[in-house]
Amino acid sequence: MRGKPSETCAHVTNQPARFHVKSFGCQMNVHDSERMSDLLMGEGMTAVDSADDADVIVLNTCHIREKATEKLFSDIGRIEKRARQAGPGRGKPLIVAAGCVAQAEGGEIAARAPAVDVVVGPLAYHRLPALVTAARARAEAGGAGPAVVDTDMPAEGKFGHLPARRPTGASAFLTIQEGCDKFCTFCVVPYTRGPEVSRPLAALVAEAEALVAGGAVEITLIGQNVNAWSDGAADFATLLRAVAAVPGLARLRYTTSHPRDMNEALLRAHAEVPALMPYLHLPVQSGSSRVLKAMNRAHTRESYLETLRALRAVRPDIALSGDFIVGFPGETEADFEDTLSIVEEVGYAQAYSFKYSPRPGTPAAAMAGQLDEAVKDARLARLQAAIGAQALAFNKATVGRRTTILLERPGRKPGQLIGKTPWLQSAVIEQPGAKIGDLVEIEIMEGFANSVAARPLVPAAA
Ligand code: 5AD
Ligand code: SF4
Repeated sequence: MRGKPSETCAHVTNQPARFHVKSFGCQMNVHDSERMSDLLMGEGMTAVDSADDADVIVLNTCHIREKATEKLFSDIGRIEKRARQAGPGRGKPLIVAAGCVAQAEGGEIAARAPAVDVVVGPLAYHRLPALVTAARARAEAGGAGPAVVDTDMPAEGKFGHLPARRPTGASAFLTIQEGCDKFCTFCVVPYTRGPEVSRPLAALVAEAEALVAGGAVEITLIGQNVNAWSDGAADFATLLRAVAAVPGLARLRYTTSHPRDMNEALLRAHAEVPALMPYLHLPVQSGSSRVLKAMNRAHTRESYLETLRALRAVRPDIALSGDFIVGFPGETEADFEDTLSIVEEVGYAQAYSFKYSPRPGTPAAAMAGQLDEAVKDARLARLQAAIGAQALAFNKATVGRRTTILLERPGRKPGQLIGKTPWLQSAVIEQPGAKIGDLVEIEIMEGFANSVAARPLVPAAA
């Protein structure tokens, strides 16, 4: 039921509109959502916390695992229903489908859900203001004609077109690289995010400086494959050293990495760069070399373990994290036992585990030996129990350590502040006079499943 002027009046005026961005999925998406917000604010629009108050709603979708598309359509349905309930005076908000589902499905989304006004992929969102303007004009004309679709993967990249960053929190993300050329057989990312593209070193150092000037004390370099970063002249280890040298930056992290690209220079950086925090997220996916081959991972169980041995040799306190997939096509009980045993062997500080989800168009989706959901569920439960036990053991093993936490946000109760240890553990403290962005010396007192208890070592400021 689109197209009646009374239904579209809320978003066709030239008044600055209110927008809401809802983010699904990975850190890249969370970050992309922030950048889309920056773009819309640059147009004089105002961010609102609730979709109910918004004239423009951006749904930034994720396609990595099941039901992503279904989630998008049920969200669209909910928005339409709320708009109907609000009565004719309020009008239907403009709906923007963004992110990886938008990239994968393109115009099909608007064909199936005519309430969608704009479809924009993750490599084209720098054009969002123009797309919204075009969609407004279309709505003003009664909603005739196809929705506005932009799923180009422009060669020049979007980064040069994004506005300057707003002041950030104490811990900021910096996108250094986007896309993936690895083509793991289960993964949709190379199709939705396109080939690997690295941003130039000078631009990244300049953006890191701007983030620190805006209040960042910690920067996390993000991308689908950050350790594959190269701008032709410099490699990833060189980039780490250059960003670590930005005055005022106390902490540096990066995610996500591929085991294949963990080279000697990067290991040395972990030994030699004090700002580089002792934490590494290095997805292994499976402990079975046979399954890893079928996944096209380009590493084996042994080469992964060897990388971690070399890393621990130069940085003994490093905390390790990983990603796992259970129930990949053809995974036998013995393969799964290999996954459980690699978890035992590594001793993760934390890890993420997922049931294999066939992604349309990926090679694994067409493989023989797809497993029953019940088998996947049972394996996932066993793996998560093993990982949970390790996370608890890791947190308990750090009791007694004296270290610093970076205060990042307020806690639940008044006076509380939440910070992170170098090993990415959350700790809540009460320290009158302390504020977000402070590095506070603490002692870890107790270890829990997902956090630690800590006490400040330095007396509170007067
Ligand atoms: N099914 C389940 N998990 C997947 N991942 C990626 N693709 C799939 C899939 N088809 C997981 C991987 C990856 C993480 C981001 O998501 O573990 O590292
Ligand atoms: Fe997906 Fe593999 Fe690329 Fe990671 S490395 S984004 S899992 S294809």
